Amino acid sequence: MGQMKTPSGHRAPRMGARRIYEALRDQILTRVYGADGLLPSSRALAGELGVSRATVTVAYEQLAAEGFIDIRHGARPRVAEAVVVSKRAGTRARPSPRTVRLSTYGERLRRVAPLSAEQPRKLFADFRYGDLSPSDFPVLGWRKAVVAAIARRPERLAYDNPCGSRRLRTALQGYLWRSRTVRCEVDQIIVVNGSQQGLDLCARLLLDPGHRFVMEDPGYLMARHVFSATGAAVVPIPADGDGLDTERLANTEARLAYVTPSHQFPLGGVMPIGRRHQLLAWARKFDAYVIEDDYDSEYRYDTKPVPPLYALEASERVIYLGTVSKTLSPTLRIGYLVVPSELQSVFAAAKQIMDRHTPLVEQEALATMLETGAYDSHVRRARRRNGARRQALLDALRRRFGDRVQIEGAAAGLHVVVWFPDMPQATEAALIEAARAKGVGIHPVSQLFDQRHPGRQHRPNFVGLVMGYAALEARQIERGCQLLAQAVDQLRSLR
Ligand SMILES: Cc1ncc(COP(=O)(O)O)c(C=O)c1O
Repeated sequence: MGQMKTPSGHRAPRMGARRIYEALRDQILTRVYGADGLLPSSRALAGELGVSRATVTVAYEQLAAEGFIDIRHGARPRVAEAVVVSKRAGTRARPSPRTVRLSTYGERLRRVAPLSAEQPRKLFADFRYGDLSPSDFPVLGWRKAVVAAIARRPERLAYDNPCGSRRLRTALQGYLWRSRTVRCEVDQIIVVNGSQQGLDLCARLLLDPGHRFVMEDPGYLMARHVFSATGAAVVPIPADGDGLDTERLANTEARLAYVTPSHQFPLGGVMPIGRRHQLLAWARKFDAYVIEDDYDSEYRYDTKPVPPLYALEASERVIYLGTVSKTLSPTLRIGYLVVPSELQSVFAAAKQIMDRHTPLVEQEALATMLETGAYDSHVRRARRRNGARRQALLDALRRRFGDRVQIEGAAAGLHVVVWFPDMPQATEAALIEAARAKGVGIHPVSQLFDQRHPGRQHRPNFVGLVMGYAALEARQIERGCQLLAQAVDQLRSLR
């Protein structure tokens, strides 16, 4: 490979240097270098790339000759001021549109589960469900547990068990037994990156294109999406105040059913024992699995804890799913599956090829919190605080709306569903807009119904909102409801 001449007459670098030169030039043009515009020293870059320092020097000289960088003896090269100025003034070239060639899965994903377009905006009171208040996070306890996890000195930094840290799984085994009467072996527990990864594992391992899966309707959108992305077909079964209507399930053939029996999402019903037995009988009849998402059972206010389906019988048909997203933080991305023993090894193998394992420091920190009792006392505190928020919301709704609203699912969890029987469904978008203009975020329950079955009988044709309260303080809840009432009145006066 010989040398080339550039139009400016400078000697072009040899190929090794040329590639370095091109990469650096692209990086400069795409603003990789920070505010100080400093590039690495030739010695550092040569070491990093495994080439001689002379090769890097040739590339740097070429960039300097073309005016991209300034070189001063004894100092690191710096992006030339002229380039910085023109970059500030110029706009970035847009890549020309081209057809993206995706896998069948990728194509399907674009159709069935497009990325949510909603950008959280700064609002005075956003009743978005799923967020928690940072003031509830146990900063000191978590910090102590993380520091202890980092300070532990393993013999070597090696990949861990894909099912999760043994310490954490042992601690979870005890927690599930004492708090949820779930009895399982440590090996049945698989630590995952939030429930969502647990659902993804179930989807990949249990569903094929053309299979059918049962969802509660209305139900949890993120579950419906992850199952639909496999190419399997959703069978929506209505949920009411008692959870999934198992009478309507009876002769439905499907590979799996996703349910939230302890606190139906979003309506809040607790599935009575009769329906639980029907559901398990259905699973046996069709050789199907039931995924039991026990996402917020730590929060019970007016009712006694209900033992999960999993605990009802030593069922080989139930996959139990838990998370710390409602107790500690959704940002931690820690959840756990309890899988039937027959599924254990294939779930472990899938988890391993997916991401080796969930980050270990956080797992160990959670284990410490569980072992020391810090987790349980935190949960008690969070339950008290959320109980107070819930009361503030119920009081505010009563005060501002009286009998004009119906409230559903308030006995447990971190949200309620509020129905407005005198607001026709057609006014929903205008109400969201009017509330938003006043700094209040509201989120309709309609989007959680299966959209392909509009007008199904069980779906009310008036406005319903899922109102989460766990991220708000009492004054925001109170004022938020006041502003919402104003938005409702404003719309009513227009009708
Ligand atoms: C029904 C349901 N399950 C699970 C979760 C938690 O998901 P993750 O553990 O992935 O954060 C949520 C969060 O809002 C939920 O609504």
